[in-house]
Amino acid sequence: MRNFFARRTFWDLTTNRYTEALEAHRRAGRGVLDLTASNPTTIGLHYREDELLQALAHGKALTYEPQAKGLLVAREAVSAYYAAHGSHVSPDDLILTTSTSEAYSFLFRLLCDPGDTVLVPTPSYPLFDFLADLHDVKLEPYELVYDHGWQIDFPSVQTAMERARRAGSRCRAVLVVHPNNPTGSFVKPPEAEALNRICAANEMAIVADEVFLDYALAKDPPLTFSSNSTVLTFTLSGLSKISGLPQMKIAWIAANGPQPLLSDAMNRLEVIADTYLSMNAPVQWAVPVMLEERHSIQSQLLRCIVANLALLDSQLASQKLCRRLQVEGGWYVVLRVPVAGPDEDLAIALLRETGVLVQPGHFYDFTSEGYSVISLITPGDEFAEGIRRLLAFIAELHS
Ligand SMILES: Cc1ncc(COP(=O)(O)O)c(C=O)c1O
Repeated sequence: MRNFFARRTFWDLTTNRYTEALEAHRRAGRGVLDLTASNPTTIGLHYREDELLQALAHGKALTYEPQAKGLLVAREAVSAYYAAHGSHVSPDDLILTTSTSEAYSFLFRLLCDPGDTVLVPTPSYPLFDFLADLHDVKLEPYELVYDHGWQIDFPSVQTAMERARRAGSRCRAVLVVHPNNPTGSFVKPPEAEALNRICAANEMAIVADEVFLDYALAKDPPLTFSSNSTVLTFTLSGLSKISGLPQMKIAWIAANGPQPLLSDAMNRLEVIADTYLSMNAPVQWAVPVMLEERHSIQSQLLRCIVANLALLDSQLASQKLCRRLQVEGGWYVVLRVPVAGPDEDLAIALLRETGVLVQPGHFYDFTSEGYSVISLITPGDEFAEGIRRLLAFIAELHS
């Protein structure tokens, strides 16, 4: 049977112990205090429902007008979004996609032959492994290290490139998540400069995932890679986080870089996008209204994030076993918890004993045990009770 399928699909599809424990917990009818919330549509946010639904009923959506890069009306709205960030992105340098995952797929297709390498940060978002498998791309991790804040460990970038070289693989791109999920750390300007130097010297592109860009906790707006023209740079984002609308399936690639490389990249990306024409008309016509929604959604989410962080800090202040790592933006916070075995075991025991659900650090490839990832967009009451039970459980374990 196995021979029937491509080797890239030889995944281990057995349910992991954490998911099994959660399913068993739910089957037993036991409640869950979910500190992993990531779906903005189910946490009680207020959306302007009438405006959003009316926008989807645009009369022009009844005409099929295929445009490989996406309808101009939508790309102009995205361009205005970047202008509000102080970054000039021409609608010509934008390609709309149905998700950032699709955007990654297009870029892997553009940049990589089978067996080529892309450098990815660790710890980070776990979807990259599957995307890379599907496109026959190899991933080499480089590390983010924590020392009163997260930084890129540049020696590990060099080591990752060396590993690829020794394996006979070409490094085609370095991927950054800005701010990263789950560490909440932004790439700092000197780090971006260092990445530019590495990419310029090695004919590599930068791929910057900025889905959480707008959720910065500091007052100064963070840099956006969309204005990086030193090397070929692809900035990915979309409405799933910007406007809390993951169900609308709207994302994009904003390209920048030196000419004529940039035009060449856009021409090739346009062919890739034209092969699928995956965007549908109603959502594209609705993009201006959906982007407008970000002002209200972001202020609601940021209020929740700031309040939950303050609540977490006040509960952490009354104990010494757990601490939280610094967070600069995004929807998550990392807790440092005492190591008593694998993080997954702790998460399962916590769920069974207290009904509190957290994500174990190893889901994000932390380099050691002792990390739990908590969502800051969990509604306040649930968050407060979840953290209270979590800290009491850990105190009990270590008493
Ligand atoms: C860093 C990062 N990039 C991309 C995504 C997925 O975005 P989309 O819904 O546009 O595929 C997520 C989802 O959580 C994410 O954490």
